[in-house]
Amino acid sequence: MKKTTVVAGAISAIAAALAIFAKSKQKTTEQNALRTARFRQPRRVLIVGATSAIAQETAKEFAADGDKLFLVARNADKLQVVANDLNVRGASSVGTMVLDVNDTHRHVDMLARAAESLGGLDVALIAHGTLRTKKLVSKVWH
Ligand SMILES: NC(=O)c1ccc[n+]([C@@H]2O[C@H](COP(=O)([O-])OP(=O)(O)OC[C@H]3O[C@@H](n4cnc5c(N)ncnc54)[C@H](OP(=O)(O)O)[C@@H]3O)[C@@H](O)[C@H]2O)c1
Repeated sequence: MKKTTVVAGAISAIAAALAIFAKSKQKTTEQNALRTARFRQPRRVLIVGATSAIAQETAKEFAADGDKLFLVARNADKLQVVANDLNVRGASSVGTMVLDVNDTHRHVDMLARAAESLGGLDVALIAHGTLRTKKLVSKVWH
């Protein structure tokens, strides 16, 4: 076999390998772009007990990511303050509902309003509750 034929063969093999590499790289880039676009969709988040300390800090993270929020709490004034803060922090939207969670007959309505306001539901954070005081805890243990 002539030396020039060997060189030409090697060059075309390299060119073919490069073409396959470029095609697979383009496919990976497209797949990554699709994945990123999916992650950029705002999450639709329902937060029950939205005025709790834990809920407020968690909600700030969601807001910073531009997520859509629906906040439920029993104290209207505190709820409005929290909602205003999350709006400023970048939430895509902030819906609110005043509800004492002990009114269990209103839970279905709450879920319906949340789903309507958010356009669906991805995440639910249930944060309302009452921590026992140290005195109560020590009574339980002694
Ligand atoms: N912080 C901790 O170290 C810790 C540890 C373990 C578990 N937890 C639990 O995690 C949850 C959140 O903790 P946190 O420290 O963020 O609590 P937090 O700051 O004391 O807040 C509790 C929240 O629950 C709300 N709430 C209570 N009863 C309600 C009702 N019937 N309807 C509507 N809202 C009601 C309160 O509303 P108002 O503001 O109107 O009173 C308040 O916003 C609680 O369930 C707590 O027991 C906390």
